[in-house]
Amino acid sequence: MSTATTQSPTTPKRSVGPLSILALLHPQGCRTYVLADPISAQALALDVHLDLVEAVAAAVAEAGWTLPYIVDSHTHADHPSGAAALAARFGSTRIAHEAAGHEGVTRHPADGDTLHLGDQSVQVRHAPGHTPDHLVLQSEGAVFTGDTVFIGSVARTDFLGGDAGQLFDSIQRVLAGLPDETLLYPGHDYAGREHSTVGAERRDNPWLQLDRSTFIEKLTANPPPRPANMEALLDLNRKGTAIPTTMAAAEALARVRDGGVASVIDVRTGGEFAAEHIDGSHLIPLDQVVERVDAIRAVPAPRLLLCRTGNRAELARKALAPFGVAGLTVVEGGLEAYASQGGETIKGSGAIALDRQMRIVAGALVLLGAVLGAFVAPIFYALSAFVGAGLIFAGVTNACPMMAVIAKMPWNRAPACDGASAAGCAAEGGGCAATPPPTVD
Ligand SMILES: [Fe+2]
Repeated sequence: MSTATTQSPTTPKRSVGPLSILALLHPQGCRTYVLADPISAQALALDVHLDLVEAVAAAVAEAGWTLPYIVDSHTHADHPSGAAALAARFGSTRIAHEAAGHEGVTRHPADGDTLHLGDQSVQVRHAPGHTPDHLVLQSEGAVFTGDTVFIGSVARTDFLGGDAGQLFDSIQRVLAGLPDETLLYPGHDYAGREHSTVGAERRDNPWLQLDRSTFIEKLTANPPPRPANMEALLDLNRKGTAIPTTMAAAEALARVRDGGVASVIDVRTGGEFAAEHIDGSHLIPLDQVVERVDAIRAVPAPRLLLCRTGNRAELARKALAPFGVAGLTVVEGGLEAYASQGGETIKGSGAIALDRQMRIVAGALVLLGAVLGAFVAPIFYALSAFVGAGLIFAGVTNACPMMAVIAKMPWNRAPACDGASAAGCAAEGGGCAATPPPTVD
């Protein structure tokens, strides 16, 4: 068995052995896997993040595989599943436990059922604990633990009907009899690690050293905060509710207020952001959205794209389209409409709005050209004419080079979020993991 991991949807994959395994790591810490039998060219996709649908589809097409199965190991509360979107592309059978109740899922395996990829088999184990509907997959030499065992950690059990005692029992049962050298692929890893082995986790994972009562006691103490956007994600993952491409400011405000959609990506300049922004929003200026695409992926979906009036947010959405980033919703009317609806904002000292700066600069240049043309030399009228032509070009094409230059001025940069660090304004991962491993005593 061989493995390949990619940090980016464009990273080439490798696959040889009885089952090829392609592992895709989402910047939010989620893991998507594709298992394929190279002889029959049949593949199975597991826990496909909506952001990775394009990457998985490209990998499957490139390898010439068919995709008869798409599995969700459980109802995801921290990211949108791409199972429905991918199944629609490949005509795949969607698989999840019956307790999940996902619309569009037609196969509900029981504990011990086998999925066949050519002559290879993948065994399905029911492993409740993180959620009641949780499945673990086993193939020759590998176990895909989903949200049961993570590398050095285990899953949380404090929502969606989770049960710490059940998780303890499931882990014992699923790992029992597996050789130490069995590769262990978790549903999440927030430190960018590819895989572990069953033996390493038996030896080093602090949670696996605990007796049942201590495990329950420590796992249920001090649960971490709920994943961002949890209710909206559950709605999406259970009912297949599509994430809209635009949303009225009033609805965006309602969702931000009730926590349904808490992820706001502000694509204005740093100076505008410093002057006024929505609390908790992530600053990624329009001219940086492509180079910081992983920072955008790291913000939990659904994600609201915000600018002053909506134009730059729409440009950002279009600029991100080739990268397969899903779950982007433009707030119609932008921050102006949001605030006019009564939306709370944080105000500080910063630059005035970018379009006002642009009007001031354009007006000043036109005036300068007229004055110099009248009093110095007629050639300076060309400056006014040039600016006028530029404004017509900007109006027709909705692209304004002058605004792009002004956006890069020092006063339009925000010290807190400027620089190369993608993580500075990105969301924190860790949605499905337990709190840091306990001290074993
Ligand atoms: Fe989970």
